[in-house]
Amino acid sequence: MKLLKHIANLGYGSRKDVQWLFREGRITDADGEVLYADDPVLHDSVRLDGAPLDPPPGMLLLLNKPTGVTCSSKDTGRIVYDLFPPRYSLRSPVLSTVGRLDRETSGLLLLTDDGQLLHRIISPKSKLPKVYLAQLAEDLRGDEAALFASGRLLLEGEKTPLLPAELDVVDARTARLTLHEGRYHQVRRMFAAVGNHVAALHRERIGGLTLGALAQGEWRMLGDAERTALFV
Ligand code: URA
Repeated sequence: MKLLKHIANLGYGSRKDVQWLFREGRITDADGEVLYADDPVLHDSVRLDGAPLDPPPGMLLLLNKPTGVTCSSKDTGRIVYDLFPPRYSLRSPVLSTVGRLDRETSGLLLLTDDGQLLHRIISPKSKLPKVYLAQLAEDLRGDEAALFASGRLLLEGEKTPLLPAELDVVDARTARLTLHEGRYHQVRRMFAAVGNHVAALHRERIGGLTLGALAQGEWRMLGDAERTALFV
């Protein structure tokens, strides 16, 4: 691939826009030597206006999703992509959310442009644990943990029972739930099945990965060690 296409694929503009960046001499190597549109891609040594380029394809991002934003890129309201630099939405391959959280769910959300990694995380085979903290509208009855762990709970409109899930009671109206699959609105539907209602929902963990000190609305790029931590 030529450098022009590589830079356009990173979302810095159309090929025409990027052609202008070359013409204006704004794309250089680390020593300030001007580069040309059909130079080979030596990603780490390329500079635009003296600054390194965004990471090449293969990014994995960790976001602490706030409530009130949707995971869909088509929604007309606030979307998670608004929390990233605008050019991230113009990248090819596209940056996708790894599964989804509801608009009113906060917490750990991954985004990647690596299709294989995305598949590996969300594949039913991976059974990666996902941990949610649920604030409930009604007191727990006391039988929820046994029912959720039974592997026999059938959600409305579904033909396959849920995989066993672990429920830890935090207090009368707060529970921590660990799932090993990801069905549509799963946590909310599980509590609805036991006559309760989820008032607030937050995802704390996927696999071995937690949010650490990341505040709501903040995100950061993950490195190799954290990718590995995801699967332990
Ligand atoms: N389960 C839900 O009900 N909502 C989410 O956002 C995630 C899991």
